Amino acid sequence: GSVLVLNGPNLNMLGVREPHIYGSMTLDDLESACHERAEQLGLSVDFRQSNHEGELVSWIQQARTEHDGIVINAGAYSHTSVAIMDALILAELPVVEVHLSNIYKREAFRHHSYISAVAKGMICGFGPTGYLLALEAMTQLLDRD
Ligand code: DQA
Repeated sequence: GSVLVLNGPNLNMLGVREPHIYGSMTLDDLESACHERAEQLGLSVDFRQSNHEGELVSWIQQARTEHDGIVINAGAYSHTSVAIMDALILAELPVVEVHLSNIYKREAFRHHSYISAVAKGMICGFGPTGYLLALEAMTQLLDRD
């Protein structure tokens, strides 16, 4: 299976951005870890990041025909973007939502996610490990198809 791993705004600043919340790992490190786990799981991973809502929407639309599943950390757009939610619906692919931080331990405006309404499941609070857990969950979801 081919999995699109999508990262939203400000995740390119991982390692620099609020390390007490998001840790010291960079997005490049995270990408390497995902490729390593994907290889063990027999998945191929297409790992991308954008700060632009429309670009994320376009990539999700393309995933409909190019990928078998989507792992997504939409960053702040998780809490605001009906457009990303709609794109995920039309993609008709299994979606696993990830957040590095435990969004329920933080400000109230982070407690609601539009992504959760359309995801098979959500993993938050485990830092970069959450992405690896999401890939494991995706393996199961794709095996069941
Ligand atoms: C985040 C949580 C969001 O609330 C925040 O806006 C982010 C990162 C996380 O991975 O913990 O950008 O999605």
